[in-house]
Amino acid sequence: MRSLASLLVATCSLSLATPVQQNSIPSRRIGDDVHGRSVQLPMMGLGTWQYNNSVAGAAVKMAIEMGYVHVDTAFDYDNQAGIGAALKATGAKRASYFITSKIPGGLNASTAKANFETSLKQLQTPYVDLLLVHFPATMDAAASGGKAGRQAEWKVMESFYLSGQARAIGVSHYCEKHLQDVFEIATVKPMVNQVQYHVGMGAPTTDGVNATDNMGYDQHHGVLYESFSPLCGPCGTTELIDGTLVSGIAAKYVSGLHGTNITGAQVSLKWIIQQGIPVIPKTNEETNMRLNMDLFSWKLSQEDMNALSAATSPAVAGADDGTSGDCSIL
Ligand SMILES: *[C@@H]1O[C@H](CO)[C@@H](O)[C@H](O)[C@H]1NC(C)=O
Ligand SMILES: *[C@@H]1O[C@H](CO)[C@@H](O)[C@H](O)[C@H]1NC(C)=O
Ligand SMILES: *[C@@H]1O[C@H](CO)[C@@H](O)[C@H](O)[C@H]1NC(C)=O
Ligand SMILES: *[C@@H]1O[C@H](CO)[C@@H](O)[C@H](O)[C@H]1NC(C)=O
Repeated sequence: MRSLASLLVATCSLSLATPVQQNSIPSRRIGDDVHGRSVQLPMMGLGTWQYNNSVAGAAVKMAIEMGYVHVDTAFDYDNQAGIGAALKATGAKRASYFITSKIPGGLNASTAKANFETSLKQLQTPYVDLLLVHFPATMDAAASGGKAGRQAEWKVMESFYLSGQARAIGVSHYCEKHLQDVFEIATVKPMVNQVQYHVGMGAPTTDGVNATDNMGYDQHHGVLYESFSPLCGPCGTTELIDGTLVSGIAAKYVSGLHGTNITGAQVSLKWIIQQGIPVIPKTNEETNMRLNMDLFSWKLSQEDMNALSAATSPAVAGADDGTSGDCSIL
């Protein structure tokens, strides 16, 4: 067992040594006021869900060379070894990019530690910038971790944070009630909740039938809401890439960087970013990767923001009842 003093020493030396350089991608501060630590989370990062080691590795290498500063992965994606090797191969300084990883939900302390150690080894790094609990329970949800499981796993997350192996900690797929369980026992609160969010899920300030996994609750409690599937990849439609709503809006805008036409996909991503919500679109294709970087040189009008907020399609992917299904996890 390490003493608290040695944990704090490790913490301080790591956090001083690792400022993240953001290049042209804006970022948002996430942190913990009790320990006075914070990091800057880049507003756009490369998603890697469903990519295997070789595809993820090639995408990450291309992205870092293009100027990306944020890569999102997870123990369950089974691609961290490919990503770690690719990051190393770029020769980029560790402090110049931000890694988000996730360990599964519903783990006891020894398995949580083993999974995180494996993740660090695969990623070839002594720390990740943000570590999330991937799910409020085990992935198959049937074998639920429940409240006690969530609370026990959060205490382990806090130990990773205090040791400096995770520079920030948070959760994913959590709803209000899951966060309440964690708040009851937390000495370091979750800094991020990564959930599904895209055009079609309604106005930013309303919660609908919990389609947004209680966005308002997160924002009220200082938990940064982060979007996955910002183009609704799992929805089985390209509506947010080439649909009439986003294409019609895109035709009105030109990139401030390149003077080129904005695309429908850029409009869909910008609607999220302009609400202050970070995105992690997935692509391994060079043109799209470049387009995803060009979200900060132009701005949607309030009228177009409103038109996008009013869209009710594509609906959230998940349960049959118009929700992600996350909020019904016990
Ligand atoms: C990785 O995925 C790509 C694309 O689906 C596939 O072509 C390739 O064979 C996969 N590699 C391995 C080692 O499975
Ligand atoms: C933790 O979980 C693992 C995997 O389910 C199990 O093998 C192990 O016995 C558990 N450890 C404890 C201390 O309960
Ligand atoms: C760019 O948009 C303008 C105005 O909508 C259109 O006339 C032009 O054809 C577009 N250019 C390309 C390359 O799509
Ligand atoms: C929806 O969220 C509210 C709190 O924001 C909660 O009270 C309610 O139980 C949730 N409903 C479902 C079906 O999960």
